[in-house]
Amino acid sequence: MNRYLTVGLFAILGLAMLLPAQNTSFEPDPKWQAPPAEAAKKNPEADKPEALAAGKKLFSRQCAMCHGQDGEGVPDNDAPSLHLPVIQKDSDGSLFWKISTGNTKKGMPSFSRLPETDRWQILTYVRTFKPSKEAPAGGSDSGKADSSKPEQK
Ligand code: HEC
Repeated sequence: MNRYLTVGLFAILGLAMLLPAQNTSFEPDPKWQAPPAEAAKKNPEADKPEALAAGKKLFSRQCAMCHGQDGEGVPDNDAPSLHLPVIQKDSDGSLFWKISTGNTKKGMPSFSRLPETDRWQILTYVRTFKPSKEAPAGGSDSGKADSSKPEQK
Protein backbone atom coordinates (compact mmCIF):
# COMPACT_ATOMS: atom_id res chain seq x y z
CA MET A 1 0.00 0.00 0.00
CA ASN A 2 2.58 2.52 1.10
CA ARG A 3 4.76 1.71 -1.83
CA TYR A 4 2.03 2.73 -4.25
CA LEU A 5 1.58 5.95 -2.40
CA THR A 6 5.28 6.72 -2.66
CA VAL A 7 5.41 5.90 -6.36
CA GLY A 8 2.34 8.02 -6.95
CA LEU A 9 3.85 10.94 -5.11
CA PHE A 10 7.03 10.77 -7.09
CA ALA A 11 5.08 10.61 -10.32
CA ILE A 12 3.18 13.74 -9.39
CA LEU A 13 6.37 15.48 -8.33
CA GLY A 14 8.06 14.55 -11.57
CA LEU A 15 5.18 15.92 -13.60
CA ALA A 16 5.05 19.11 -11.60
CA MET A 17 8.71 19.69 -12.34
CA LEU A 18 8.37 18.93 -16.03
CA LEU A 19 5.37 21.07 -16.85
CA PRO A 20 6.57 24.59 -16.13
CA ALA A 21 10.02 23.84 -17.46
CA GLN A 22 8.90 24.77 -20.94
CA ASN A 23 8.43 28.48 -20.66
CA THR A 24 10.15 29.56 -17.49
CA SER A 25 13.63 28.17 -17.87
CA PHE A 26 14.31 29.80 -21.22
CA GLU A 27 17.87 30.78 -21.98
CA PRO A 28 18.74 32.53 -25.24
CA ASP A 29 20.70 30.33 -27.61
CA PRO A 30 24.37 31.37 -27.39
CA LYS A 31 24.78 30.34 -31.02
CA TRP A 32 22.03 32.71 -32.17
CA GLN A 33 23.54 36.13 -31.52
CA ALA A 34 23.46 39.18 -33.74
CA PRO A 35 26.76 40.54 -35.08
CA PRO A 36 27.65 43.79 -33.24
CA ALA A 37 26.86 46.02 -36.23
CA GLU A 38 23.36 44.55 -36.45
CA ALA A 39 22.82 44.69 -32.70
CA ALA A 40 23.62 48.43 -32.71
CA LYS A 41 20.79 49.33 -35.11
CA LYS A 42 18.00 51.52 -33.76
CA ASN A 43 14.31 50.96 -34.39
CA PRO A 44 13.15 53.61 -36.90
CA GLU A 45 9.55 52.72 -36.02
CA ALA A 46 9.89 53.19 -32.28
CA ASP A 47 7.44 55.50 -30.50
CA LYS A 48 5.16 55.84 -33.53
CA PRO A 49 1.53 55.19 -32.60
CA GLU A 50 0.70 54.00 -36.12
CA ALA A 51 3.67 51.62 -36.03
CA LEU A 52 2.40 50.19 -32.78
CA ALA A 53 -1.06 49.52 -34.23
CA ALA A 54 0.41 47.98 -37.37
CA GLY A 55 2.89 45.94 -35.35
CA LYS A 56 0.15 44.58 -33.13
CA LYS A 57 -1.82 43.41 -36.15
CA LEU A 58 1.25 41.82 -37.73
CA PHE A 59 2.13 40.15 -34.46
CA SER A 60 -1.29 38.52 -34.17
CA ARG A 61 -0.91 37.12 -37.68
CA GLN A 62 2.73 36.09 -37.59
CA CYS A 63 3.72 35.45 -34.01
CA ALA A 64 0.72 34.95 -31.72
CA MET A 65 0.16 31.29 -32.54
CA CYS A 66 3.43 30.49 -30.82
CA HIS A 67 4.11 33.40 -28.47
CA GLY A 68 0.50 34.33 -27.60
CA GLN A 69 -1.16 37.65 -28.47
CA ASP A 70 -0.07 38.99 -25.10
CA GLY A 71 3.43 37.66 -25.69
CA GLU A 72 3.24 35.36 -22.68
CA GLY A 73 3.43 32.18 -24.68
CA VAL A 74 0.78 29.54 -25.27
CA PRO A 75 0.30 26.12 -23.71
CA ASP A 76 1.90 23.19 -25.53
CA ASN A 77 4.33 25.42 -27.36
CA ASP A 78 7.83 26.01 -26.13
CA ALA A 79 8.17 29.45 -27.64
CA PRO A 80 9.32 31.62 -24.73
CA SER A 81 7.34 34.42 -23.13
CA LEU A 82 8.53 37.63 -24.75
CA HIS A 83 8.12 39.37 -21.39
CA LEU A 84 11.19 37.61 -20.06
CA PRO A 85 13.80 40.13 -18.92
CA VAL A 86 16.46 38.06 -20.64
CA ILE A 87 14.71 38.85 -23.94
CA GLN A 88 13.58 42.41 -23.21
CA LYS A 89 17.06 43.48 -22.17
CA ASP A 90 18.28 42.67 -25.66
CA SER A 91 18.90 45.64 -27.97
CA ASP A 92 16.46 46.66 -30.71
CA GLY A 93 18.95 45.72 -33.40
CA SER A 94 19.59 42.33 -31.87
CA LEU A 95 15.90 41.44 -31.58
CA PHE A 96 15.30 42.70 -35.13
CA TRP A 97 18.12 40.48 -36.32
CA LYS A 98 16.68 37.48 -34.48
CA ILE A 99 13.20 38.05 -35.89
CA SER A 100 14.75 38.38 -39.35
CA THR A 101 17.03 35.35 -39.25
CA GLY A 102 15.02 33.02 -37.04
CA ASN A 103 16.46 30.03 -35.21
CA THR A 104 14.76 27.33 -37.23
CA LYS A 105 16.57 24.47 -35.53
CA LYS A 106 14.84 25.48 -32.31
CA GLY A 107 11.48 26.26 -33.85
CA MET A 108 11.68 30.03 -34.39
CA PRO A 109 10.97 30.81 -38.07
CA SER A 110 12.77 33.46 -40.12
CA PHE A 111 10.69 36.51 -41.05
CA SER A 112 13.05 37.97 -43.64
CA ARG A 113 10.20 37.66 -46.14
CA LEU A 114 8.36 40.47 -44.35
CA PRO A 115 9.34 44.03 -45.33
CA GLU A 116 11.88 45.55 -42.94
CA THR A 117 9.39 48.18 -41.82
CA ASP A 118 6.95 45.44 -40.83
CA ARG A 119 9.63 43.71 -38.76
CA TRP A 120 10.50 46.95 -36.97
CA GLN A 121 6.80 47.63 -36.33
CA ILE A 122 6.42 44.16 -34.82
CA LEU A 123 9.33 45.00 -32.56
CA THR A 124 7.63 48.26 -31.54
CA TYR A 125 4.72 46.13 -30.34
CA VAL A 126 6.98 43.55 -28.69
CA ARG A 127 8.53 46.40 -26.68
CA THR A 128 5.18 46.95 -24.96
CA PHE A 129 5.70 43.59 -23.22
CA LYS A 130 7.34 44.77 -20.05
CA PRO A 131 9.23 42.33 -17.86
CA SER A 132 6.84 40.90 -15.26
CA LYS A 133 5.30 44.01 -13.60
CA GLU A 134 2.97 45.15 -16.36
CA ALA A 135 2.40 41.68 -17.74
CA PRO A 136 -1.28 41.18 -18.45
CA ALA A 137 -2.98 38.74 -16.12
CA GLY A 138 -4.17 35.38 -17.29
CA GLY A 139 -0.88 33.88 -18.39
CA SER A 140 1.14 31.43 -16.38
CA ASP A 141 3.02 34.38 -14.89
CA SER A 142 6.19 32.72 -15.90
CA GLY A 143 9.49 34.49 -16.00
CA LYS A 144 9.36 36.16 -12.62
CA ALA A 145 11.21 33.58 -10.63
CA ASP A 146 13.91 32.98 -13.18
CA SER A 147 14.54 36.51 -14.21
CA SER A 148 17.55 37.36 -12.09
CA LYS A 149 19.44 34.25 -13.02
CA PRO A 150 22.56 35.14 -15.02
CA GLU A 151 23.00 33.57 -18.41
CA GLN A 152 24.74 30.25 -18.44
CA LYS A 153 27.44 29.66 -21.04
C1 HEC B 1 6.32 28.48 -35.03
C2 HEC B 1 6.39 29.11 -33.74
C3 HEC B 1 6.95 30.53 -33.68
C4 HEC B 1 6.52 31.65 -34.38
C5 HEC B 1 5.43 31.73 -35.42
C6 HEC B 1 7.32 32.75 -33.89
N1 HEC B 1 8.21 32.32 -32.94
FE1 HEC B 1 9.55 33.45 -31.93
N2 HEC B 1 10.32 31.82 -31.06
C7 HEC B 1 9.85 30.53 -31.21
C8 HEC B 1 10.69 29.63 -30.47
C9 HEC B 1 10.50 28.13 -30.36
C10 HEC B 1 11.70 30.41 -29.89
C11 HEC B 1 12.89 29.92 -29.04
C12 HEC B 1 14.10 29.74 -29.95
C13 HEC B 1 15.34 29.34 -29.18
O1 HEC B 1 15.26 28.51 -28.29
O2 HEC B 1 16.41 29.89 -29.48
C14 HEC B 1 11.43 31.78 -30.26
C15 HEC B 1 12.18 32.86 -29.83
C16 HEC B 1 11.86 34.18 -30.05
C17 HEC B 1 12.53 35.29 -29.47
C18 HEC B 1 13.65 35.20 -28.45
C19 HEC B 1 14.98 35.53 -29.02
C20 HEC B 1 16.08 35.26 -28.03
O3 HEC B 1 16.67 36.21 -27.54
O4 HEC B 1 16.38 34.10 -27.77
C21 HEC B 1 11.92 36.41 -29.93
C22 HEC B 1 12.25 37.85 -29.60
C23 HEC B 1 10.86 35.99 -30.82
N3 HEC B 1 10.85 34.61 -30.88
C24 HEC B 1 10.00 36.84 -31.49
C25 HEC B 1 9.07 36.40 -32.44
C26 HEC B 1 8.30 37.30 -33.26
C27 HEC B 1 8.33 38.81 -33.16
C28 HEC B 1 7.53 36.52 -34.07
C29 HEC B 1 6.59 36.96 -35.18
C30 HEC B 1 7.17 37.82 -36.20
C31 HEC B 1 7.80 35.13 -33.74
N4 HEC B 1 8.75 35.11 -32.75
C32 HEC B 1 7.18 34.04 -34.31
C33 HEC B 1 8.74 30.15 -31.94
C34 HEC B 1 8.02 30.97 -32.80
